[in-house]
Amino acid sequence: MGLLRSDLAPRIASEIQIDARSLLDGAHAGEIRELLEQRGVIAVRELHLTDAEQIAFTRTLGKIVDEDKVLKITMDPQENPKAEYIKGAFYWHIDGTMLDVPIFASIMSSRQLSAVGGQTEFANTYAAYDDLPEAEKWAIEGLKVVHMFEVAQRYVRPEPAYAELQEWQRFTPKTLPLVWKHRSGRKSLVLGSTASHVEGMRLQESWALLTRLREWATRPQFVYRHEWKLGDMVIWDNTGTMHRAIPYPLDSGRMMHRTQLAGEEPFV
Ligand SMILES: [Fe+2]
Repeated sequence: MGLLRSDLAPRIASEIQIDARSLLDGAHAGEIRELLEQRGVIAVRELHLTDAEQIAFTRTLGKIVDEDKVLKITMDPQENPKAEYIKGAFYWHIDGTMLDVPIFASIMSSRQLSAVGGQTEFANTYAAYDDLPEAEKWAIEGLKVVHMFEVAQRYVRPEPAYAELQEWQRFTPKTLPLVWKHRSGRKSLVLGSTASHVEGMRLQESWALLTRLREWATRPQFVYRHEWKLGDMVIWDNTGTMHRAIPYPLDSGRMMHRTQLAGEEPFV
């Protein structure tokens, strides 16, 4: 039986209508994965999964990261001692650019909302690549971008203490292709807040290119903004999208529970 689906934006994101029981029995898992790869983002409204159900559902789609836990995403320092780092999520990024194999997908459900802000935006990096002029595709083919954790952290902490900087520099920089050639044959752009510079290119030119491509990839036609309702669940294909949270007050109580699917495809 096919899933009931409606598209949320022309180039990215679909909503499916399905109840928790049908999600958990895994009968639609293949269809959901296929839709995820086609559309980048899948939303299910007001599903209200428990943590155990979210973990069980995640397992129907692939190999779960961190077996039996959900990650609580919140700025509340009582719940999350690393709340400061989460502010980095206000800037466009792909999860896991510091890993050899980035995670495949994330599943996030809303447990408490912020009265203002806190929406999540997703940009389709396959569509952004596809729509580039042919000359531009040719010009960026083969370029490599150095990604550094410290570059992303500087968005949040422009004047770190030296000790803090040393902590950030524990992550080894990664050199990733600007154009990710997937096994499927499709191509997507690899950008985001960890992107430092293009290897072998003058810095100014390199920042100009990365900024221009980020602006291009986040144009309205490639973007879906999820306005959260309580209990919503959103799944995104981390290999073909970038995402960011719209800033919200740190004491808003906003709480998201997230599970992840292990990466299946390296950048190179
Ligand atoms: Fe993220």
